[in-house]
Amino acid sequence: MELRNRPRRLRRTPALRGLVRETRLSKDALIYPIFVREGSKIVEPIPSLDGQMRYSPDTLYLELEKVRAAGVSAVMLFGLPAHKDACGSGAWAEDGVVQQALRAVKKDFPDLCFITDVCLCEYTSHGHCGLLDGQEVDNDRTLKILAKTALSHVQAGADMVAPSDMMDGRVLAIRRSLDADGYSNIPILSYAVKYASAFYGPFREAAGSAPSFGDRKGYQMDYHNRREALHEAREDVQQGADILMVKPALAYLDIVREVSQTFELPTAAYSVSGEYAMVKAAAKAGLIDEAAIVCESAVAVFRAGADILVTYYAKELARWIEEGRIG
Ligand code: PBG
Repeated sequence: MELRNRPRRLRRTPALRGLVRETRLSKDALIYPIFVREGSKIVEPIPSLDGQMRYSPDTLYLELEKVRAAGVSAVMLFGLPAHKDACGSGAWAEDGVVQQALRAVKKDFPDLCFITDVCLCEYTSHGHCGLLDGQEVDNDRTLKILAKTALSHVQAGADMVAPSDMMDGRVLAIRRSLDADGYSNIPILSYAVKYASAFYGPFREAAGSAPSFGDRKGYQMDYHNRREALHEAREDVQQGADILMVKPALAYLDIVREVSQTFELPTAAYSVSGEYAMVKAAAKAGLIDEAAIVCESAVAVFRAGADILVTYYAKELARWIEEGRIG
């Protein structure tokens, strides 16, 4: 058979496949989310996220040592306060749980990049991501609180802040408050394109942040929309975002692609709790090869155009990259 083009030629051996591989993963591109709760001497498993733990500020270093050993260099901290109130005051408190955690570990881990999730839902008694006005979240009053929260994280040592609340104008509000306090060098990773998603279910169990009434559809995006994602991202670019994030990841790879092709900023994707929990459950049931599925899914996110992946599998992925299991 006369065939000039035989794509199989370049697939014949592992070395050839490695040579022509289009997507290469690096441990540097991974961010590991960690839950920190108030208290002391706590290392507790999270039932909805098999294999993930909650740490108190004094035990967090145990996890950070593992993260470092795995070769992951960025973590994202989520805080669980002891007390919640209507305005989420634990979020910006000087001795808030994330602030305590940062002060406890920062000096011992100068090589790690500490990113903090900036949102109110873990801190409000009603579980919404902002201050309420009746049954609705009041956008502009919430901005002031978010800006205060981000600033207090940075004052406690955060290297980067990641607002996940989806209020309009939060990137600008945070940028202004950081700049006014002399932190113009601290970047903002914006959850620019965050859909109202059922994939966050296990996280809300983990963080105790499910809304006590209603849902988040009044501020998080409608998953039927693509053009709106570009509008959201463009708005954040104009407000001074440094990194744009799309969330969730796997069901939104079309959006990852568009955002990464449209804007000149780094694009991150967040493989959220529901994605993790589904893979864990299927692996536990003996239905899939966990490592193979996680590697394939992670490559898909980067192939779609992401530069950065936030994942609960960060440590395992780093190991699999190291072992050459993943290109
Ligand atoms: C806080 C926040 C959430 C997630 C990240 N930041 C929950 C939510 O918006 O309900 C979800 C992360 C995950 O599911 O892994 N707003």
